[in-house]
Amino acid sequence: MLNSIGLQNPGVEYFAENDLPFLKKFDTAIIVNACGSTIEDYIDVCKILDTLDIDGVELNLSCPNVKNGCMAFGSSYEGVKEVTSKVRKVLNKPLIVKLTPNVANIAEIAKGAKDGGADGVSLINTLLGMKIDIEKRKPVLANNTGGLSGPAIRPVAVRMVYDVAKAVDIPILGMGGIVKGEDAIEFMLAGATAISIGAGNFIDPYTSLNVISEIEDYMEKHNIENINDIVGKVEMN
Ligand SMILES: Cc1cc2nc3c(=O)[nH]c(=O)nc-3n(C[C@H](O)[C@H](O)[C@H](O)COP(=O)(O)O)c2cc1C
Repeated sequence: MLNSIGLQNPGVEYFAENDLPFLKKFDTAIIVNACGSTIEDYIDVCKILDTLDIDGVELNLSCPNVKNGCMAFGSSYEGVKEVTSKVRKVLNKPLIVKLTPNVANIAEIAKGAKDGGADGVSLINTLLGMKIDIEKRKPVLANNTGGLSGPAIRPVAVRMVYDVAKAVDIPILGMGGIVKGEDAIEFMLAGATAISIGAGNFIDPYTSLNVISEIEDYMEKHNIENINDIVGKVEMN
């Protein structure tokens, strides 16, 4: 999927009043993905999130579809460390920093998150891509470029999770093209302690449930009692 929907949303106050009560009806952890155009935006949003009954915050420092913010901070060690440490001062809940794959060395960026005080990192966000309409000779997306997600990006994501796992000792939430239990296991062997599913939900809304039961099948087949036992257990050639 190549998307360019940006990050439009009704805002944190609306979320607190309307969306959160709905989400609280379900017996599951709630991690809120937060973004802003300036560092002050990130701080203001996280100050409010800190007062809410949620389980953690994922800072989006990696959206490729907004002109300012996000990826502007997320593309350098210093930028990531600065936003993370400023948010850390106002947020007492678990803090995950979401990393962009559109950088030369994602392990360096992960170190910025860790040094800024993040409890974990999540990766990858979408890869910057472009689709051209050959009749019009124009990009198909109004924004010209968009973020690529889904199974096509999985090998890039698995490699990046592996690189980040070698570089930092904080937990990794791995994502990028997971649609099957087998895919999730790959991320965990590469070093992710948890996984996340985006584009897969558009293909089949039951993807997450299927992935969980396929992980269980793998555990049974290989006599694995605790899924954490496979984290980072890939043996390189
Ligand atoms: C339609 C769409 C909207 C997305 N919106 C966000 C977002 O608001 N914040 C964010 O951090 N990532 C966002 N992402 C990125 C995904 O969370 C995920 O990092 C990426 O798509 C790779 O995983 P996937 O292949 O499982 O989708 C979005 C992805 C898609 C496809």
